[in-house]
Amino acid sequence: MSRIVISGASGDLGRRVTRLLLDEDPGVGLTLVTRTPEKLADRVAQGIPVLEGDYTDPESLDVAYKGAETLFLISGLNLGRRVSEHRNAIAAAQRAGIRHIVYTSVGGGEHPNNPAMSAKDHYRTEQDLRSSGIGFTFLRNHLYAEIVSNIWIAPAAEAGRLEMATGQGSLSPVAKGDVARSAAAVLRDPERHEGAVYEISGPELLSMQDIVRIGSEVHGVPITYAPVSEEERLAFFDSVGLPRTYDPDMPPSPEGHMWASDELVTADLAVAGGYQALLSHHVQLLTGREPERLRTVMERVKALRYDQIDDAV
Ligand SMILES: NC(=O)c1ccc[n+]([C@@H]2O[C@H](COP(=O)([O-])OP(=O)(O)OC[C@H]3O[C@@H](n4cnc5c(N)ncnc54)[C@H](OP(=O)(O)O)[C@@H]3O)[C@@H](O)[C@H]2O)c1
Repeated sequence: MSRIVISGASGDLGRRVTRLLLDEDPGVGLTLVTRTPEKLADRVAQGIPVLEGDYTDPESLDVAYKGAETLFLISGLNLGRRVSEHRNAIAAAQRAGIRHIVYTSVGGGEHPNNPAMSAKDHYRTEQDLRSSGIGFTFLRNHLYAEIVSNIWIAPAAEAGRLEMATGQGSLSPVAKGDVARSAAAVLRDPERHEGAVYEISGPELLSMQDIVRIGSEVHGVPITYAPVSEEERLAFFDSVGLPRTYDPDMPPSPEGHMWASDELVTADLAVAGGYQALLSHHVQLLTGREPERLRTVMERVKALRYDQIDDAV
């Protein structure tokens, strides 16, 4: 039976996709690869192989990817430096004889001029995958609706204002559950999706004004959108003590994530520049169901911290 490796398995997406694949077929051949196997003790107890693997440690990947046909390559977090980490994973996949890599890219990530630091990394890894000789599928995941709900709107509901460098841009936030269901659908039948590039977007293209209107209605308070300049946004992040650049050793923010302001500000600029203004029907095509609307996600998660969101939904 063909074996699927989930690389980056202890994070939110890895856990969701593992659960979906096992729910559909408890006998599916899975290997879970993570830097922190202790976080997946529940899966070890179920008899699922959990192996240590780090994108910075090629030898660990050689052991972890052995015997698999399909690799779910969950992109790392080390902004600006993860391209070489992904290269390590692709090279290990070549050595292991893996036939198909499903890669988590970013919405609008195909454009070399996209200013988002994150998109620049993904663009280069997409190029590496195209020339790797291994079959590939790109899941260009748009901004998580949970980030818009909890990181953008929840604090803005308290302040009455959303100040971002997103200009008059628009975007189509997608629920994490829809990203996971789309990935699981591809992993169940990778050959059918060989060479495909999917824009994993939500069901509606929303302007920043639309987003604050939905936020106002869900939270029951007025919120205005105030576009600010790149410099003003960076100064705000400086004032709250956010590091400018990602450091794997930096402490997580109160909501449990590791944000750096260069990533966040350049992501804003990508929205302002129209690079996120894409709407696709690929989630429905892959999963057979309409993706969740931002309003529904916001209502579901509005009382939660970002790191408390139930990964079973
Ligand atoms: N579309 C969006 O809005 C959005 C938002 C945030 C992130 N992302 C991207 O989408 C990916 C999946 O999202 P998520 O919600 O699952 O993020 P997450 O919960 O923060 O998980 C990050 C994953 O990256 C893996 N990883 C990081 N560095 C690694 C390394 N050196 N070697 C091996 N694995 C490494 C981790 O694996 P282990 O800890 O198991 O080793 C972890 O599973 C992220 O990694 C990020 O690239 C997208």
